[in-house]
Amino acid sequence: MIEIAPSILSADFTRLGEEIAAIERGGAAVVHVDVMDGHFVPNITIGLPVVRALKQATQLPLDTHLMITNPGLYAEQFVEAGASMVSVHVEIDPHLHRTLEAIRKKGAMAGVAINPATPLVMLEEALPYTDFILLMSVNPGFGGQKFIKTSLDKVRRLRRMIDERGLKTRIEIDGGIDRHNIAEIAAAGAEIIVAGSAVFNEADPAQAVRELREATMQWA
Ligand code: DX5
Ligand code: ZN
Repeated sequence: MIEIAPSILSADFTRLGEEIAAIERGGAAVVHVDVMDGHFVPNITIGLPVVRALKQATQLPLDTHLMITNPGLYAEQFVEAGASMVSVHVEIDPHLHRTLEAIRKKGAMAGVAINPATPLVMLEEALPYTDFILLMSVNPGFGGQKFIKTSLDKVRRLRRMIDERGLKTRIEIDGGIDRHNIAEIAAAGAEIIVAGSAVFNEADPAQAVRELREATMQWA
């Protein structure tokens, strides 16, 4: 079952509640929340207070993608604020095992995010402690970037790594995904598909989510 996770980074923040209601109508499965601190990535976005507000606004699971330094220091706070999924970047956390266990202990799904140029081997030891891997198909920091084509093969290789180990880890993919490339990405083995600009830059975000879902169903 492929799930669409709209990224609110491209939403109209003055009408966040309405934007969330629209993606709910369209059949979104997850709300993807991009947390950036201006250190790990060259952009600053939103944090804990917005996650708390979102929790009041929707029943959908909140997926917080932490693009911050010291993610281990904050991961549990995001669960307390209402996140059901928390991912931390492999490039910035030297104590991944501890962070993943802490997220799980708090009752959320634990994920590791990985940048386009970081090799999959960096995930090997942490994989058994993950509920999902967030594979970046753009360099994190901004919405509206172009899908990096080599990510497709990276999804396939990650799929094999997970299956060979008999793990249940799910693959989430993030960046540059739209209705033209989503079917191919789903076919490569991604299960949770993030889309920001392809949803919120459209006149009708509910319809945009529907079209993305339909595009993946054509593949399945
Ligand atoms: C980028 C973020 C993405 C971004 C995706 O750093 O992690 O979640 O919002 O936006 P699009 O779908 O427009 O590439
Ligand atoms: Zn993201």
